[in-house]
Amino acid sequence: MRYQAVGCADIQASSLALGCMRMSSLSSQAAGQVLQQCQELGINFFDHADIYGQGQAERVFGQAIKDLGIDRQSIYLQSKCGIRQGYFDFSKQHIVQSVEGILDRLQTDYLDFLLLHRPDALVEPEEVAEAFDQLARQGKVRYFGVSNHNPAQISLLQTYVDQPLVANQLQFGPAHTPMLDAGLNVNMLNDAASMRDGGTIEFCRQANITIQPWSPFQVDLEQGLFLNHPNFAGLSQQLAKMAEERSVSVEAVVIAWLMRHPAKMQPILGSMNPERLAKMADGLAIELTRPEWYEIYRSAGHVLP
Ligand SMILES: NC(=O)c1ccc[n+]([C@@H]2O[C@H](COP(=O)([O-])OP(=O)(O)OC[C@H]3O[C@@H](n4cnc5c(N)ncnc54)[C@H](OP(=O)(O)O)[C@@H]3O)[C@@H](O)[C@H]2O)c1
Repeated sequence: MRYQAVGCADIQASSLALGCMRMSSLSSQAAGQVLQQCQELGINFFDHADIYGQGQAERVFGQAIKDLGIDRQSIYLQSKCGIRQGYFDFSKQHIVQSVEGILDRLQTDYLDFLLLHRPDALVEPEEVAEAFDQLARQGKVRYFGVSNHNPAQISLLQTYVDQPLVANQLQFGPAHTPMLDAGLNVNMLNDAASMRDGGTIEFCRQANITIQPWSPFQVDLEQGLFLNHPNFAGLSQQLAKMAEERSVSVEAVVIAWLMRHPAKMQPILGSMNPERLAKMADGLAIELTRPEWYEIYRSAGHVLP
């Protein structure tokens, strides 16, 4: 495993994190097998959200950690709040109450990281600042960040919030690259030139905010996996070719592609299959060349100007 800081949080976080969204349907025994594999692979960073399985993912995880006797201090726990049924809510009351529920379900008394899950159009950054101050003062949250936020939204929050925002979680993978496309097509008239994210990669690199790619193996949450997806046949073929050349799995090449970007991203892996997680971790040992990285990007259907 490789380890890295998360933004200015000078910790030894595993460069690959386990996303626990899909843990809600597992028995605590099956969840325990996934967590044991994480221990063996050196994965010490776990991503949650209060809404995953309506809290069930956090419950299953909290119990499995307890059953396995894993030392709380040896792992980093991250969760997210702010999404409610049909709306978003960054009010102080909701943020503080959400953390209470998260801590209870995870059976812990502190979170290492709390992220605001999706931008709330009605955000009042002064209230967010009050919520973060209270949670930090009470020792309930160590570090704060955001998810699915653009640069202007982060700057607005950071103007009021005293704690540095250290992470921004965004969908990113070979089949989902709007964060790259616009930057590669500046001032062009093609569709790829449309700026959909406000220059998030460049902003986060400049502001020392770690990008955490979510769903790295999906087209999106509706269309599912890109491997063998009819719209991404070229990508699957290219990944299979490179995997064969290096005698590794396709999953390892995908991880190598994510890690080759110099932004020092921390991918959030969603697999609940211990063998697949091991294949992904192999990707950390692979250094793709610049032409190879671009070849994978182009094989997903992107044309360079
Ligand atoms: N911030 C946000 O808005 C947001 C949104 C969505 C997700 N997330 C976070 O991101 C994490 C990862 O999301 P995700 O689960 O969609 O990520 P993912 O790693 O792209 O997908 C994992 C899913 O794909 C399946 N899969 C099947 N074949 C696979 C293969 N060959 N390689 C890899 N996966 C394969 C896995 O099944 P198996 O379990 O059988 O391997 C699993 O169901 C979540 O757990 C959550 O923490 C954040």
